[in-house]
Formats: sequence, C-alpha cells, structure tokens
Amino acid sequence: MTTADPSLRARPRILTGDTPTHTGLHLGHYVGSLENRLRLQDEYDCYFLIANVHAFTTLAEKPAEIRANTIGIVKDWLAVGLDPDRSTFVLQSEIPAIAELTFLFAMLIPFNKVMRNPTLKTEIETKGLGETYPFGFPMYAVGQCADILAFRPELVPVGEDQEAHIEMCRDVALKFNQLYCGVGNRVPAEEHAKVGGVFPIPKAKVGRIARLAGLDGVNKMSKSLGNAIFLYDDAKTVQKKINKITVLPDPATKLVPQDHALLQYCDAFLPRERAEAIRAEYASGKDVMHGHIKAELGEAINALIEPMRQRRAKLDGPEGDQRVIEVISTGIRKANVAAEETLAMAKRAMGLHFGERRIG
Ligand code: TRP
Repeated sequence: MTTADPSLRARPRILTGDTPTHTGLHLGHYVGSLENRLRLQDEYDCYFLIANVHAFTTLAEKPAEIRANTIGIVKDWLAVGLDPDRSTFVLQSEIPAIAELTFLFAMLIPFNKVMRNPTLKTEIETKGLGETYPFGFPMYAVGQCADILAFRPELVPVGEDQEAHIEMCRDVALKFNQLYCGVGNRVPAEEHAKVGGVFPIPKAKVGRIARLAGLDGVNKMSKSLGNAIFLYDDAKTVQKKINKITVLPDPATKLVPQDHALLQYCDAFLPRERAEAIRAEYASGKDVMHGHIKAELGEAINALIEPMRQRRAKLDGPEGDQRVIEVISTGIRKANVAAEETLAMAKRAMGLHFGERRIG
C-alpha cells in the first residue's frame, strides 16, 4: 500500500466532475470550470469524474440518452484539452468503491441535513421535480461525498452551485476521521491527514468567473435558456451571436452599466488592460463604437475556441467513439487502483478488514 499521508504525495490531488444529463459545452462552462481544469493538469494529479450513475436520478427512463451524453462529455473534454495521459478520467458506474463508500457515509450524515441541502432544494425547484423525485435523488448528494473522498483529493474545483455539496463532503470526512481514526475534535481541518485521518478535508475551488451572463444580459449563460455561445459554434455563428447583444445605456445614468454582458465578456476574453480601457470608455459616457468592440470580442473568442472546434470535429463518428471507449477503459483501471486503496483504508479504520479482494 502506498503512503496514507497526502502531504507526502508527489503532486496534490484534485477531483471534479460533470453529470451527463446533457452535452453542449458553452463559454460559461469554459470560464467557470474547464479553464481551471486545464490549468491545473500540470501541477496536480487530476481525477475527472463522469457522474453517469447520478444522471439516472433525473433521467432513469432515458438510458440511451445518458449513454450518448457520457460519450459526448468525454469527447468534449478531449476537445477542450483535458489529457487522459496526464489525468485520470473516472467513469462512476465502474468504480465499485464509490457505491460502497456511499452506503457507509450515509450513516454519518443526518437525514434532515441532506434534505435541507440548498443545492438539492434549488434543483428540485428549477428542474420542477415536485414531490415525485426518487429516493436516489437526495441520495446523490451522499454519493457525491463518496465520488470525492474515494480519491482523497485536497481540492475540488466546482461552480458556486456545488459549494453546499462540498461542505457536506467536508463534514463527512471530518466525522469519519474523528470517529474511526482517533482524530481529536480540536484538530484543524488542514491537519487531519497528518495526524492519521484517512481523509484529507477537501476544499472547493471556484473558477475565475463564477457566473457568466448569457447573451440576453439577464440570466446566467445556459443551454436551456437559448442564450449561450457554444464551444463548437462555427466562427460566423459566434460573431452573429455577439453582434445581436443589445447595448443600451441605463435611462437614469445615461451610461452602459458596468455589469453589462458585453463588458463581462471583455473581462473574460480580452487582455486585462484592453478590457479595462473599454470599461473606462463606457464609464466616460463618450459615444462608444459597440460594433468595433463586438468584432474584437468575436475574434478573441474565435481564436480561443478554434483549436477546440477542430479537435471536436475529428472525434465525430465511430472512430471518435472508439477513442472514447479506450480512454474510459484506461481511466477505469487507473481510478480503481486509487479508489480501492481508499476503500481498504476506510474499512480497516472501521474494523471491516476481514479478507482481501482484488478489483481491476
Ligand atoms: N453534481 C455535479 C454537477 O452536476 C457533478 C459531480 C458529481 C461532481 N460528483 C462530483 C462534481 C464530485 C465535483 C465532485 O455538476
């Protein structure tokens, strides 16, 4: 068994993931999480999880859709530049330790606390789940603790909307270490692994821009609201979408508001000094040539996504599917090594070590 103390690892670990309930990455995903993941691949030992079991919590009657989205997500990741040679792609349904840890962790979280989880509550509202959601739906929040802790990461890069889940995960890890590893109540979270806790207490890491406005300038960029620029839109479509953004001054101040979507996009996609200069122009109340700025933005966005478009196009069709299956199979092998190691440590701590078994 390798060392249990994560501070002795060559590279600290990260785990994060996506649920294959849809495909179609857009710029909001890019600045909110993908860009972060790309950057972290060199410094960290990264695990990227496809939460295909969780997809069944809302799409149980559509397995074919979940399968297609699973393949689609891996293609998207490859196109964006996530690299299966440096990082591990984890297919949730093939990692039995995750399912086992879910059950064990379910004993450490009060039922009412799960039901009060604000991320779940928001989802029930926005997805219109009403009273009819399955038992497995709130259960996925417990499952997410297992997704994370199975890999004993230090960091979990996620969007703002996931922070409640990470908080729950931290609670589970703290409680586990205290109950089963003799870690004292007063030991600070950062010290847990050093003093014998099985689990480092992971931290959430939110992306550079937590909420990117959609083209409508009101809502968050989202596929279902039809206000998104997709990473695989062709160059003309990108420019057309940007050209359609309405730029109107606020009637009271006579100025274009500084939180306008166009200005948010300048921050996100133009060099910092340039974005600041544009902001200053708008703030001065001078007549700004919106058209020029839109052209400049379109060009910058197209330059950013062109390599992704090209890589994504190459993955279309059966050869691309084949490549995805290979990447998933390699990932399953690598992920099970890490997750089985964690499960064995957790079971030993709980007095559940009776016999050996081998998976993978
Ligand atoms: N719930 C996350 C989402 O829908 C996906 C996810 C599942 C995840 N397991 C995870 C994210 C573990 C981070 C860590 O976006």
